[in-house]
Amino acid sequence: MQLRKATEQDKKEAIKIAQNLKEWFNAEGIKNMKTDFKLNNLVVAIEKGKVSGFLCYTTNCGKMQLIWMGVKRDTQRKGTGAKLLKWLEKEAKKYKLHSIEVETLPDEDDYEPYKKTRAFYYKNGFKKIFYKKARVKGWDDQIVLEKVIK
Ligand SMILES: CC(C)(COP(=O)(O)OP(=O)(O)OC[C@H]1O[C@@H](n2cnc3c(N)ncnc32)[C@H](O)[C@@H]1OP(=O)(O)O)[C@@H](O)C(=O)NCCC(=O)NCCS
Repeated sequence: MQLRKATEQDKKEAIKIAQNLKEWFNAEGIKNMKTDFKLNNLVVAIEKGKVSGFLCYTTNCGKMQLIWMGVKRDTQRKGTGAKLLKWLEKEAKKYKLHSIEVETLPDEDDYEPYKKTRAFYYKNGFKKIFYKKARVKGWDDQIVLEKVIK
């Protein structure tokens, strides 16, 4: 597997992967993701010439912000997500950033798909630092997880 900054074609393939992960990404999520892919950075994992995973990120005042990530359903749990994260950590180190932050659904939320997402972040060394109450009708409460870069 190889990682690279996404080409325009890679971005389209990454969106297709996300559209196929409907338990995590609804229509609103996909719409936001398309905008975020345009305005921020995207790294992709390539297997047999095809995109198998993606990670969208930006930086903000000395911190790395992980905006979206996803791995093709039939390639999940084989280390692709961990490799994408390692890439992001390397990038964060290169720019001497303090940490990587990501938002996700709270631990108390028992929606099964996001329990797996949190398990992934916790397994990779993220710790909860804030609880964010939803301010806008239709939005969910979120927790902010952090991985300090050493
Ligand atoms: C979260 C995600 C990016 C991780 O990528 P991945 O390549 O599957 O992850 P890795 O193989 O590096 O790590 C596997 C770990 O992730 C968690 N995990 C990932 N998929 C899982 C699944 N289907 N069931 C249970 N745990 C899962 C577990 O902690 C697992 O560790 P384990 O196998 O020792 O139990 C991927 O599963 C995914 O695309 N999920 C749906 C979208 C999503 O949640 N995106 C993040 C929010 S934007």
